[in-house]
Amino acid sequence: MRTGHDLHVLDDPDALSRAVAAHWLSVADDARTNRGGFHVALAGGSTPRMLYELMASGDFRDNTDWRTTHIYFGDERCVPPDHHDSNYRMALETLLRHVDIPAGQIHRIEAERTDRDAAARDYAQILEHRLPTSGDRGPPCFDLVLLGLGADGHIASLFPGTDALDERRRLVVPVRVDSTGTWRISLTFPVINVARHIAIMVAGEAKADIVGEVLNNSRDEPRYPVECLAPRGRLAWFVDRAAAARLPGGGLT
Ligand code: 6PG
Repeated sequence: MRTGHDLHVLDDPDALSRAVAAHWLSVADDARTNRGGFHVALAGGSTPRMLYELMASGDFRDNTDWRTTHIYFGDERCVPPDHHDSNYRMALETLLRHVDIPAGQIHRIEAERTDRDAAARDYAQILEHRLPTSGDRGPPCFDLVLLGLGADGHIASLFPGTDALDERRRLVVPVRVDSTGTWRISLTFPVINVARHIAIMVAGEAKADIVGEVLNNSRDEPRYPVECLAPRGRLAWFVDRAAAARLPGGGLT
């Protein structure tokens, strides 16, 4: 692994979710101690559901100071917040309605708005106003950005072949996903890369090829969006055995 990158291979999605939950608690404790609050961008899709349910239950819930937790989203589908495809709805059902986070600390992307560009600009303003910077008046700095990984190597809604991959100024942009003909709103590399911690969660046999392609590669030139990450902080991969199947020794060596 590259310097500053960690690979954790876990037996199954439950163990993966528990490992990411423990990482969340550790990063959050450090953020609260040093900066008085914890700012996290949630991933969408299906992989994080188990993590969010875990964070909303038992020890993980009871050992989290939700009153100083600030929730954001790494991306959102351009659908209403009660739509079954909404990342906000998924997070609400699995986590947000079960823990005591002040409503003003949950920052939803208003991706249902007709003017997607205005919605992206408004969300970038929220990040500028709510997130601490990294101290050098740089971009706003998340304590933790949670990401999943698509089989095509996308992260958030930074899909292959989209202009969003080349965005170096705006923190949030609308993205048209040609493969589905749908629109999304996504954080961009300028804000993802400056996060203190990035955690990529990947589970299942269907992701074994892309995990192998990305983590086994010695290419200098990025082929997939996830390879365009240039994290200033620490990047941790949390991969279950099924997704790690193409790594040398299953990723355990
Ligand atoms: C989304 C996510 C997206 C997701 C990957 C993996 O809105 O769908 O932001 O980047 O993390 O597509 O999705 P799964 O976890 O469902 O495999």
